[in-house]
Formats: sequence, structure tokens, C-alpha cells
Amino acid sequence: MKLADRIGQVSASLTLAISAKAKAMRADGIDVLSFSAGEPDFDTPDHIKTAAKQALDEGKTKYGPAPGEPQLRAAIAHKLQRDNHLNFQAENVLVTNGGKQSLYNLMQVLLNPGDEVLIPAPYWLSYPEMVKLAGGVPVTLTTSAQTGFKITPAQLQAVITPRTRLLILNSPSNPTGMVYTPAEIAALAEIIVAANIWVVSDEIYEKILYDGAKQLSIGAVSEAAFQQTIISNGFAKAYSMTGWRIGYLAGPLELIQAVGRLQSHSTSNVCTFAQYGAIAALDGSQDCVETMRRAFDRRRQLMFRLLTDIPGVTCPQPQGAFYMFPDISCTGLGSIAFCETLLEQFHVAAVPGVAFGADQCIRLSYATDQTSIEQGIERLAQFILPLSH
Ligand SMILES: Cc1ncc(COP(=O)(O)O)c(C=O)c1O
Repeated sequence: MKLADRIGQVSASLTLAISAKAKAMRADGIDVLSFSAGEPDFDTPDHIKTAAKQALDEGKTKYGPAPGEPQLRAAIAHKLQRDNHLNFQAENVLVTNGGKQSLYNLMQVLLNPGDEVLIPAPYWLSYPEMVKLAGGVPVTLTTSAQTGFKITPAQLQAVITPRTRLLILNSPSNPTGMVYTPAEIAALAEIIVAANIWVVSDEIYEKILYDGAKQLSIGAVSEAAFQQTIISNGFAKAYSMTGWRIGYLAGPLELIQAVGRLQSHSTSNVCTFAQYGAIAALDGSQDCVETMRRAFDRRRQLMFRLLTDIPGVTCPQPQGAFYMFPDISCTGLGSIAFCETLLEQFHVAAVPGVAFGADQCIRLSYATDQTSIEQGIERLAQFILPLSH
């Protein structure tokens, strides 16, 4: 069938392929342990569900404004001022179907064909595809475990060309769990300001931090940096609301209005009553966020200890999100072959690092229970030990 050229260059999501295979094996009665989930394993906190149910009962079931319910946009602007020191007003905020749609919409509105977008690797796998779908050119900035999976200001400076339009920053990171320090963020901001390019800061994991790590939004570094910063965030990870599909974009008025026009012709408003759950998430007690963060931290410590006990496996200790990104090159296998065998023979699901731009690694999510972590890493060790050299 003849399809549009634009879809021809887009890869299918490897994460979804692995989860589908793991699910099929489970349906066949095989005891599969999964580290492939990109979502918290907790239920959405009750007060958030109650607010959405109440909104349903009150008849908040109709079309709403495409950029979002005014009360939610105001609550998000307040949160950005309070938590991130970013001086956005409600009109600078647009509610989207998850952080995914906010980034997708941004690329559609910002990029012209041939515009270059800088993407530090390892990266969240949707970034390059979203850039390509908007006619842009993804430019990868490779990092390694030796540099803590972080780009340096010199590295950033070296890849900026007259076609560079945007840098995508994601800290804490999916898939590595690394977090830039405030000083590192400030140094990157200096380059961005001098080069006069945009930066989108994907802050979806901002609340999931460990060991005293601090998340600084690049827009809070200086007024000049703020003028060139766009924020993408959402409720999925911090409040365990992945299926609710609520995210947001915050930025200059002209850009947000343009995204509003785009969204008004594509998805229109995000599910109206779900937005009332999001208001409760922001306005209510934040204890639920801390409870989940602590549980993730216990699992992180357990998985890190067991994983780094396996001879040949190396992994920087993550300071944020809920992923580990160990190097498995000691096995001599590429990440796809590694994950296929791990799943087929040892019944453990992990995501090949090649999907995130790093074929020597695999991604393990520790958003799962302690017993699964103990048993799963034991199986991983059984697989790796005979191969490790
Ligand atoms: C780095 C990153 N950004 C954005 C998203 C989008 O999340 P959602 O669309 O569920 O809000 C994800 C989800 O996995 C992610 O890992």
C-alpha cells in the first residue's frame, strides 16, 4: 500500500514489542518477570480519583476549551511558579494528552523541514521520531557511562549550527536515571542563551529524585534562559496517572497559542473530568508523591546492589526516575539479541538499549515489587555469568 513518506521513516516502538511478547508468554502460563514497564506500579491516589468521579457526577462531561480547563491551567502555572521558579501565567500553559502529545505538538509548531534538533543520547525513544514526523533532523549527542550519561557544554557548543533550532533536555532521564546538577544546568543555559536556540525541558520525572539530588529547571537559571525555555511535563509518573493521559506544555504566549490552534484541529480538549483529577493532584497533599518516591528508592538500592554484584556488569547509580541502564557488553551480545534470549530462555523482560541509542546497554525498570527484583536479577545473573568475559 502506498503510504505517506513521513510515516515510512518512523520506527515502531521496541518497548511495546517487548511488552507484547512478554504478555503473550504470560497468557501461555509462563512466569515472566518484567522490568520493561515505563510506569509506576501503584494505583492512582484516592483523592485524585474521587475528584474525577465527582466531576463526572457534576456533569463535567462535555467539550471544554482546547487548551485545557482554565482552573487546571491556573493550577499548573501556580505549580511552575512555586516548585520550579518559572514565572508562567495560566495563558502560558496548555493541557495535552500526556507529555507525549505536548512534545509532539511542540515539534509540529516549532520545526521547519531541515531544522536540527539536538538530542543527548541515551534518549527517550520517541524524541527522534517526533522530530522526524515534523520534518526536522535529529542530531544525536552521544554520552557514556564514564561521563555519567551527561553532555558537556563544550559538546553542546560543538554541534550547534545555523540550522539548530532546539535542544531536548530530559533530567531526570529516561532511560539512564541521571540528573544534571544545578551547576551543570547553568553551564548549558549559558550556551543556549549565547546561541539563541530553544530548549525544551522534559521534566516528567522531576519528583522522583534520590540521594539528595536537586532538579533545576533550565528556565530558572536566568531571565534570558527563561525566554528560550519551553517546559514539558505531565501527571503520569509523579502521581501514577499514566492511563489518564494528562500532560502540559508551558512557554511563550505566541508558541502556546499556536499549539492551541494545532490541538483544536487534532484532539481538542483532554478528557474533561480527568482534568479535575489533575487539579486535585496539584492542589491536594503531596504526601502520595513522597510515599511512592521512597518505595522506588528502596527498590533502586536493592536492584543496584544485586545488579552490580554480577561480574562484568557495570552501571552508574541512577539519581532519578525509576530505571537502570546497565552495560551488558561483557556478554558479547547486542542489546536486541540479549533481550530476546533473556525473555525466551530466562523469562525476564527488559528493553534493548538500542531503542534509546545505546546498543551496549539494556533498560531495567524497578517500578515493580521487591520479590520480582530479587528473582529477576538472579535470572539475569544466570544468563550473564557463563557469557561474561
Ligand atoms: C522522558 C519521557 N518523557 C515523556 C513521557 C510521556 O509520558 P506521558 O505521555 O505518559 O505523559 C515519557 C513516558 O514514558 C517519558 O519517559
